Amino acid sequence: MIVRIITIFPSFFASCLGEGLLGKAAERGVVEVQFDDLRGHANDAHHTVDDAPYGGGPGMVMKVDVWDRAIAAARQAAPGARVVLLTPQGDRFDDAAAVRLARESGLVLCCGRYEGVDERVAEHLVDECLSIGDYVLTGGEAAALVVLDAVARKLPGVVGRAESVETDTFTAGLKFPQYTRPPTYRGWDTPAALRSGDHARIAAWRQAEARRRTAHRRPDLAPLAAAKNVRLVLLERAMDEAIRDPQSAIAACATRAVDAYRLARLVVCVPDADTRQVLRNAHLYDVRIVASLAQLLARAKHETVIHLADQPGPGQLPLAEIKRIIAAAPAGITLTWGGVAPTGAHVAAPALPDLADHPLALAAWLDRLFGV
Ligand code: ADE
Repeated sequence: MIVRIITIFPSFFASCLGEGLLGKAAERGVVEVQFDDLRGHANDAHHTVDDAPYGGGPGMVMKVDVWDRAIAAARQAAPGARVVLLTPQGDRFDDAAAVRLARESGLVLCCGRYEGVDERVAEHLVDECLSIGDYVLTGGEAAALVVLDAVARKLPGVVGRAESVETDTFTAGLKFPQYTRPPTYRGWDTPAALRSGDHARIAAWRQAEARRRTAHRRPDLAPLAAAKNVRLVLLERAMDEAIRDPQSAIAACATRAVDAYRLARLVVCVPDADTRQVLRNAHLYDVRIVASLAQLLARAKHETVIHLADQPGPGQLPLAEIKRIIAAAPAGITLTWGGVAPTGAHVAAPALPDLADHPLALAAWLDRLFGV
């Protein structure tokens, strides 16, 4: 991935990029970091990049024409790269944004300074604006470094074991606590479960601790933590429409939901073998295609199955009860939608009874269960 940083302080980055993971990523060619000094795009002898704000007030504002030339040069040097302005006015940068940006072929990180950047840069020149948090830094350089570090560690080959990126804090709530030797220090013990050598016990302890910590310290992330154990299965009726029209709202809603809420997986049930082959040939991103739900469940005996009904019926459970079942599920959860409830499944009352099997009903369910 090419990352081009436009800044008036290229030397700000020197020591960080030679060290640690970022240094290794650069060495291995996984990330190529280029610097462009914004002053090189000024068109006067003093290399002026800022001017007084219209309307008065303290400080200076970075000039749109200078940024325009710098960004045009960046787009030429790294065609197809996503251009990001770092600013406290931007959308919040988080783990999901890091995953999203790591899928880009290149990034251009534009570091603002002084009192601000002429608003036309954000409006017309960049693809998006990002803020790393609700505080004001003296400039975008420190923010660009944060973004670069978080994005780089999502790239294959940067962090040693892929698994350690998958268990990152925030990918699915807070991470479990870690300990190393000695087992006891000044009377402070390490958890016996972690020293038991019993892999199942260790995994269960870590999962429970991660959940407990997330619920206690970051309740806003708790729905995400639950989502990581959930796979969404679209049954025949939902698939009828999605197959007839791959651009359909159902297909879009389901694929986006898996990304947005960090569900473990999207599975589609397609009984017809020819259609399954067509779908397989389409190489759908991260979608599992099976012939029937029974076949899927046969291989997951401990799975909790919850069917999201689209019509009111007897024995259906309210939202609060479904949330409780999801939070307490001992293993994975299969959520089914768009067909007949599987035998033995918990059945959730329709989210939007008036819209029946409309894709909005699925969207409403997922938002209520996993939205933050
Ligand atoms: N520039 C100044 N403050 C910032 C912030 N919080 N995020 C991104 N860029 C910034």
